[in-house]
Amino acid sequence: MSTFPTSLPGGTWTLGDLTVTRFGYGAMQLAGPGVMGPPADHDGALAVLREAVGLGITHIDTSDAYGPRVTNRLIREALHPYPETLHIVTKVGAIRDEQGGWPPARRPEDVRRAVLDNLEALGLDTLDVVNLRLGDARGPRPGSLAEPFETLVELQRQGLVRHLGVSNATAGQVAEARSIAPIVCVQNMYNLAHRQDDELIDELARQDIAYVPFFPLGGFSPLQSSALTAVAARLDSTPMSVALAWLLHRSPNILLIPGTSSVAHLRENVAGAGLSLSGEDLAELDQIGRGQHQTARSAQAGGMGGDSGRT
Ligand SMILES: NC(=O)c1ccc[n+]([C@@H]2O[C@H](COP(=O)([O-])OP(=O)(O)OC[C@H]3O[C@@H](n4cnc5c(N)ncnc54)[C@H](OP(=O)(O)O)[C@@H]3O)[C@@H](O)[C@H]2O)c1
Repeated sequence: MSTFPTSLPGGTWTLGDLTVTRFGYGAMQLAGPGVMGPPADHDGALAVLREAVGLGITHIDTSDAYGPRVTNRLIREALHPYPETLHIVTKVGAIRDEQGGWPPARRPEDVRRAVLDNLEALGLDTLDVVNLRLGDARGPRPGSLAEPFETLVELQRQGLVRHLGVSNATAGQVAEARSIAPIVCVQNMYNLAHRQDDELIDELARQDIAYVPFFPLGGFSPLQSSALTAVAARLDSTPMSVALAWLLHRSPNILLIPGTSSVAHLRENVAGAGLSLSGEDLAELDQIGRGQHQTARSAQAGGMGGDSGRT
C-alpha cells in the first residue's frame, strides 16, 4: 500500500487514489466542551493542527458538526492553503441541536447542504472523502442508507466529492453502500476494549477498504485496564501508546485518527504508536477485548464509550 516514504508509525495506505499516512489525526477534540462552541485555547488548537502536519501526518478527520462549524474553520485557519499531500476526511448525516444533541440529517437536501457547508468551511472545491454517518447515539442501527448514499454518489458525479465512506454503520449497511458505489473507508467505534467489528475489519481488509476506528483511545472515557497498564510498564511506554500500537498491529487496513487538544499528547502518540508488541503482549492485550479485564470506567458506566459520550 505504501507509495511514499514516511517515518510515521504504520507507513501509508491508499484511499482510492489518495495516499495517506496510517497515523492520522482526529479533530473533534479541538471544539469546546461537549464538542460545542470554540476551544478554550484557540491558538493552542491551531498549534496542534500545525504540529500534526509538521510531524508528517497527511490524514485529518473532521466534520462540520464539530462545534458546529468550529473544527473545519480551525483547520482552514491553521493549514490553508493545504499541502498537496494532506487529505481531509469529513462526515455528513448528523447536525447539532441546541442541547448539543446529534439529530440525523439524511434527507437529500440535508446531505447536499452539508457537503456545500463543508466545502465552504474548509475552503475546498472538492472534498477528498465524505463519510455518511448513520446510526445514532446508541451506535449503528439497521435500515437502508440508499437515499442519502445515492445523494452522495450524485454529488461525487458532480465533482464535489472524490471518495465515499460510511460511519457508525452495520455490516449490512456497508454491504448495501458497496452495492451502490465503491467506498474507500468505514469509520466505526473500535478499540482494545470494544471489538464488535472484528469480523468486519477482516472482511474490509480482504477488499482493500480502510477501517478507521473512532474512539481509538476510548474517546470520552479513556481506556483503562490492568492489562494495558502492565504491558505499557513492561515496555516502558504509556497505555495510550500501547493502545495505538495494538490497533496498527491489528490489521493493515486500520488507520488511526486519535484525538487530542494537546501538542504534547500528539507527539507522545506519534512517538509511541510504533512500539513492537510481542506474542506475550498481544495475548495479554487480547484479554481486554474478551472482557477478562474491565476498564475502570466501563465497570462504573456499564460499557465503554457509554451513550453520554457518543457522537
Ligand atoms: N464517526 C463518528 O461518529 C465519530 C465519533 C467520535 C469521534 N470521531 C472521530 O474520531 C476521532 C477520535 O476520537 P476522539 O478524539 O473522540 O477519541 P480518542 O482519540 O479515543 O481519545 C481522545 C481523548 O484521549 C485523550 N488523549 C489523547 N492522547 C492522549 C495521551 N497521550 N495521554 C492521555 N490522554 C490522551 C484526549 O485528551 P487531550 O485532549 O487532553 O489529549 C482526549 O480526551 C475524533 O477526533 C473524530 O474525528 C468520529
